[in-house]
Amino acid sequence: MSVVYKAKTFDLSGLSGITDATLAMHFKLYEGYVANTNLLNEQIAELSSGEITPKVMPVYSELTRRLGFEYNGMVLHEWYFGNMKNGGSGDPAKESAFHKAAEASFGSYENWKKNFVTVGKMRGVGWAATYHDPVTGNLSNHWINLHETGNVAGFAPILIMDVWEHAFIRDYAPAERPKYIEAFFSNIDWAACDDRLARGGAARPIGK
Ligand SMILES: [Fe+2]
Repeated sequence: MSVVYKAKTFDLSGLSGITDATLAMHFKLYEGYVANTNLLNEQIAELSSGEITPKVMPVYSELTRRLGFEYNGMVLHEWYFGNMKNGGSGDPAKESAFHKAAEASFGSYENWKKNFVTVGKMRGVGWAATYHDPVTGNLSNHWINLHETGNVAGFAPILIMDVWEHAFIRDYAPAERPKYIEAFFSNIDWAACDDRLARGGAARPIGK
């Protein structure tokens, strides 16, 4: 019996530079990933209850391949919404766990930020992610294509930024992604990032 996922809610009204209209549309998209994850699990369970004949195998395979897209579409949005808050503070405090980890991994917080922002400006749609390697303690920045390519197995997501155009197209022109990235930074909930670091990513993201 597979888990039935429920869409979480996030109280993000009044963000700086990311309008409530954008958020409302984005929450709907996120809910679509939750629904499709459940639907895929249901369909796979139904197929699995019978014999997987050679005729059924292509259908079973295609459904299973789609899990990576739908699951990551669901979870990455939860990490993303969960690392923003109304009244974010721009850069993290120098004594914060994130600031210290960025310094240890990149030489300085500024170097980490430059690297992360550059990843976020890459052409194409996807995500910029800062991961924590639980073995070495190192932070590293990654590009995630669509939702499923580029995630690192076993690494913990610490900061996730959606750079699909739907994340900002109502507020900025497609070429104005840097302005959206600036707005995203002004809304980061650094306490959430510190919490994720402390828990090694084991906790489910913030949200109800
Ligand atoms: Fe998105």
